[in-house]
Amino acid sequence: MEKKRIHPEGPELSRIITGVWRWHALSSSDTEALINTSLENGITTFDHADIYGNYSCEELFGYAIANRSSLRSTIQLVTKCGIKLLSDKRPEHRVKHYDTSKEHIVASVEHSLQNLKTDYLDLLLLHRPDPLMNPAEVAEAFSTLKQSGKVLFFGISNFTVTQFEMLQSYLPFPLVTNQIELSLFNHQLFFDGTVDTLMKHHISPMAWSPLGGGKFFTASETQKQLEALAQHYTCSLSQLLLAWLLKHPSGIFPILGTTNASRLTEGANALTVKLDRQHWFAMLKLVTGKDVA
Ligand SMILES: NC(=O)c1ccc[n+]([C@@H]2O[C@H](COP(=O)([O-])OP(=O)(O)OC[C@H]3O[C@@H](n4cnc5c(N)ncnc54)[C@H](OP(=O)(O)O)[C@@H]3O)[C@@H](O)[C@H]2O)c1
Repeated sequence: MEKKRIHPEGPELSRIITGVWRWHALSSSDTEALINTSLENGITTFDHADIYGNYSCEELFGYAIANRSSLRSTIQLVTKCGIKLLSDKRPEHRVKHYDTSKEHIVASVEHSLQNLKTDYLDLLLLHRPDPLMNPAEVAEAFSTLKQSGKVLFFGISNFTVTQFEMLQSYLPFPLVTNQIELSLFNHQLFFDGTVDTLMKHHISPMAWSPLGGGKFFTASETQKQLEALAQHYTCSLSQLLLAWLLKHPSGIFPILGTTNASRLTEGANALTVKLDRQHWFAMLKLVTGKDVA
């Protein structure tokens, strides 16, 4: 599996990433098996958030790698903070809300380090744009975490262009990615300036729900036609959908959400599918229902 810098001054990550959002119901042996399948296929980057699995997934993952100390230097751990869930584990939360205060960012990182059983995070993302975000305070939190070596790189998720540029203007170092929802079914960010602006800053996006969260796999006329195209490329439907993202010149890093080891292997091998330009537009037309102008 190819590795690539997500930004010229950012970390080198595996081009395809494993996401752990849906891992909350897995046993520890299944968790370990998915980690091993990822590694066997060259996926070394894992995407977490403090809140996944009602604040349980990081701990599950940390437990699975606890006795493999040599592993840490060969993998990259990405996690997020900034959302506060209504949860039995956080009885003080009266309403679901965002918190990007310095106090919360630093405390959340401390929890993540403890749960993941590591002393540093490769990449920390603000999970969602917070309307009450004070960018100077975020800059202070990020600088403190960077200086202590607890977080190597920083980014954001689900930020608009203006939110991204506003926060960046307060930071003494570059934000290295914006993790956004991108797939054939959610392609509008290619057309509204979001991806263009990341490219302007030499940032590659991370794509969440690259298979539309599984919604491509319901029987439909679109699916039938996509399956036929997949046959043309002698690949699976999920590989075709990943190849659609991988063709984009912004150098997208898709995050696989499957909890199935054979689908994870299949996804990891999508890099071998080289989609033709006209097929890229044909797939777009399948979901928009019209030719480009
Ligand atoms: N930053 C954010 O706000 C944000 C939001 C959401 C997610 N994320 C990240 O993005 C990652 C991926 O998101 P996602 O899970 O929505 O991604 P996804 O890969 O688009 O969707 C995964 C879902 O599709 C199903 N699926 C995959 N291949 C299939 C196939 N061939 N046939 C039928 N079903 C199939 C999976 O079921 P099986 O498990 O049964 O294979 C799973 O339920 C998450 O783990 C998380 O790390 C970030």
